[in-house]
Amino acid sequence: MNETNWTKTRNPAFDKDGARHMDRIAKTAFKPIYPVIARNAIDVTGVSRGRCLDMGTGPGMLAIAVAKAAPEMAVTAFDFSDDALEIARENIRQAGLESQVTTAAGDVHAMPFETGEFDLIVSRGSMFFWKDLKHAFAQILKVLSPCGKTYIGGGFGSLELKAHVIEEMAKIDPSWDCYAKKKSGDDGIRRFENMFDELNCSNYQIIDDDTGFWIVLSANRV
Ligand SMILES: C[S@@+](CC[C@H](N)C(=O)[O-])C[C@H]1O[C@@H](n2cnc3c(N)ncnc32)[C@H](O)[C@@H]1O
Repeated sequence: MNETNWTKTRNPAFDKDGARHMDRIAKTAFKPIYPVIARNAIDVTGVSRGRCLDMGTGPGMLAIAVAKAAPEMAVTAFDFSDDALEIARENIRQAGLESQVTTAAGDVHAMPFETGEFDLIVSRGSMFFWKDLKHAFAQILKVLSPCGKTYIGGGFGSLELKAHVIEEMAKIDPSWDCYAKKKSGDDGIRRFENMFDELNCSNYQIIDDDTGFWIVLSANRV
């Protein structure tokens, strides 16, 4: 079988400098968004215990926020960038959460996890970079537990926080292009609906509101 070698398809934007830049903005302009997104993820999915995967964790801030909001959750902070994971490990250590949050390296398209391993899969600002969304979501459905849910997408948690981030980012990096300034629109939503049809996944919700654009999937299995 001619399988794609996902380790060779990495985005050069996610090098050491890219990982450091993400860490800087996660600790400044983006700082208030992570606790709100973690809370939204838990409230929308109703999942607050078991195992959580933060896909494309970058500096690990959403993984840390989920761990703080859900003390009974064991969190895996996952990314294909070793530079990002090194930073995430230091942030997890500084948060005193080493026993609750661990890191793992790999690509969303070829995840090193067992079938049904995770009860909650969260991800913020990563899926816009995935090379093959259908393949990635097939992998995500595979590692989701039978009662598990996802909260995957992008955004800033609320309209106020989005305005705050846009204002702060204009000071830090005037060239910053925010995908969240644009609405995904009906075409974007239809694209996901068609993809989930092809994946035989009928149990999902697409949220496109002030909190951002989020995909809440349930596993195909029961
Ligand atoms: C814009 S950053 C967002 C980081 C973090 N989720 C946050 O909101 O602070 C995107 C992250 O996704 C990771 N990423 C992109 N494509 C990936 C893939 N195919 N597999 C695993 N991680 C990926 C990048 O390395 C980067 O750390």
